Amino acid sequence: LNLRITKNITHEIPSTIFGYMWEDINHSGDGGLYGELLQNRAFQGVIPGTQNALNAWQSYNGARLSVTSKTQGVSKALPNSLEVKIPKVATSLIGFENTGYWGIKVQEGWTYKGSLYAKSDSYNGPITVSLKSNRGTTFASQKLEGISSSWKKFEFQFKPTASAADENNVFNVVVDGSTAAGKTLHFGMFSLFPPTFKGRENGMRMDLAQLFADTSPGVWRFPGGNNLEGNSWDSRWKWNETIGPLEDRPGRVADWGYPNTDGLGLLEYLNWAEDLEAEPILGVWSGISTQNYSEFSTWPIVPEADLQPYIDDVLNEIEFIVGDANTTWGSVRASLGRTEPYALRFIEIGNEDQFQQDSYAAYRWRDFVDAIGAKFPQMEFLATSLPSLALDPPYQRIDFHQYNSPNWFIDNALFFDSYPRNNTKWFVGEYAVTSTNETNALDTLTNGRLAYPTLQGAVAEAAFMTGMERNSDVVFAASYAPSFQHIRSYQWTPDLVTYDAQRFVRSTSYYVQQMFSVNKGTHVLATEPTPSNDTAPLFWSASFNNETDVVYLKVSNTGETDLVANIFLDFASTGTVSAVSLGTPPLSPITGHFNISNTLEEPELITPTIFNMAIPFLDRFNYTFPATSVTILGIQSP
Ligand code: AHR
Repeated sequence: LNLRITKNITHEIPSTIFGYMWEDINHSGDGGLYGELLQNRAFQGVIPGTQNALNAWQSYNGARLSVTSKTQGVSKALPNSLEVKIPKVATSLIGFENTGYWGIKVQEGWTYKGSLYAKSDSYNGPITVSLKSNRGTTFASQKLEGISSSWKKFEFQFKPTASAADENNVFNVVVDGSTAAGKTLHFGMFSLFPPTFKGRENGMRMDLAQLFADTSPGVWRFPGGNNLEGNSWDSRWKWNETIGPLEDRPGRVADWGYPNTDGLGLLEYLNWAEDLEAEPILGVWSGISTQNYSEFSTWPIVPEADLQPYIDDVLNEIEFIVGDANTTWGSVRASLGRTEPYALRFIEIGNEDQFQQDSYAAYRWRDFVDAIGAKFPQMEFLATSLPSLALDPPYQRIDFHQYNSPNWFIDNALFFDSYPRNNTKWFVGEYAVTSTNETNALDTLTNGRLAYPTLQGAVAEAAFMTGMERNSDVVFAASYAPSFQHIRSYQWTPDLVTYDAQRFVRSTSYYVQQMFSVNKGTHVLATEPTPSNDTAPLFWSASFNNETDVVYLKVSNTGETDLVANIFLDFASTGTVSAVSLGTPPLSPITGHFNISNTLEEPELITPTIFNMAIPFLDRFNYTFPATSVTILGIQSP
């Protein structure tokens, strides 16, 4: 292939072009990005008296545990508490433990901040809290004094004297059996935080947050996904129940099979997007729950006559985010410590409303857009129905999701080249290679579904991403999904990053996201030829960064043989070219097998290689793009 990179700028690249979609799925929030270490910390979204309500809690030395709402809870929002009955015959230390999110990382040098509420009508002795290993080693411990018959919040710190060998550790709470025998204690709203990303209170797990930050995402779509919608209207994600003191957040029975604490709430998300310097795309509830997805559903869609309260709720939410401190909801935000309004431009009306297009087209889209547009004329709206559906008012931005096979992504790498330039813009708000199954990309693992992203899949995603970047005059944003997976409890594969309480692995797709996002141009450059079916299996996009004077050539070789390109430059170069390339490891016995993944057991099987080349001619060079690889060349111009 002879490939000329011209000086001709075709258009500017929006800063939003690459980023992530976010919702709590796979314990991506609770047990993942959210720093809280104790699972089921406030017994939210559980049924008192059931064994399930005790999830992640266990008795220590024979105390009898149950979750109850019969005694008053620590707050109106948190009516459930842990009832601990000490048997009449008890002598040694006795109590209970929390096993964390399938373990707790114990790190020497860290300061852990903890708290709990306790009360007892019959016991007023000391309570000892500790971080311990399952095998009984104590890493840190503290005595709490002053329990009485009304709720009291106890705060404590742990500074472990050693790191634990693994994640098999617990948070242990005990009293002395000889003084507590026959007595009953109640506990509620526990919390234990390690140091967090940027030191934020109620913040993010440092290593996982850093993984996102390392990719410099331009966009952050939240809070879902299905998890925005709820299994029913009432269990939708309610923004106003995710703000304020943790004691005021009831949590919810969420969409993905586990309760959400909502500790990661609206303000945490907005602060997080700011920390990442990623532009938020806010999804707002549009009158359907996931119950409505089935054609046999008897659950109604909110009729137009009943929609106004939900529209008002969204208006309040937006005012909370962008209103100044003199507005009703802006003042609530200010009272929570954030005076300055947040920057918010994009409002997405619903999620995957293609499943209920009729009511969307009839009134739901219009009623939300009209009301929000009247109050916040600066907002831009994203529709979530099929791109082919006409809406009134006509949509200008559409979010349409793509989970599919490697072949689908390769076959569609040129899709946006022929997208009509008619002032509508596209957001690929969820996408990933999920399967090698060409007919059902969301089927089971035994039918082709991927457990982890593969090299083959990541290369196919990269081919599609070159198409999005090349056509970023119409594709204004894209967000990979889902992002996170706790390996001990998940609902969806593959995911960008997989982890447990201690370890994590960056997938091949993670590296592609990072390579594309970090090596970002500001303008697309025309190439000759442009990629076409004739130039497959090579797909590319060229861009120029006018702050650094670097020309980027992003190339995906989706074929199974190495391909050489003669690259010609229409601009002056300094003769240095940097390359970052993801492919099968050189000299590896696995070369030639592309269905390979980084896993928790083998986290660094496939990592990008980075090197610099001096080119003999300043206006041309040859480059061999290895079989099934993604390469980004950075050509420095003077
Ligand atoms: O990303 C997982 C799910 O896929 C999202 O919640 C939903 O929007 C899509 O169907």
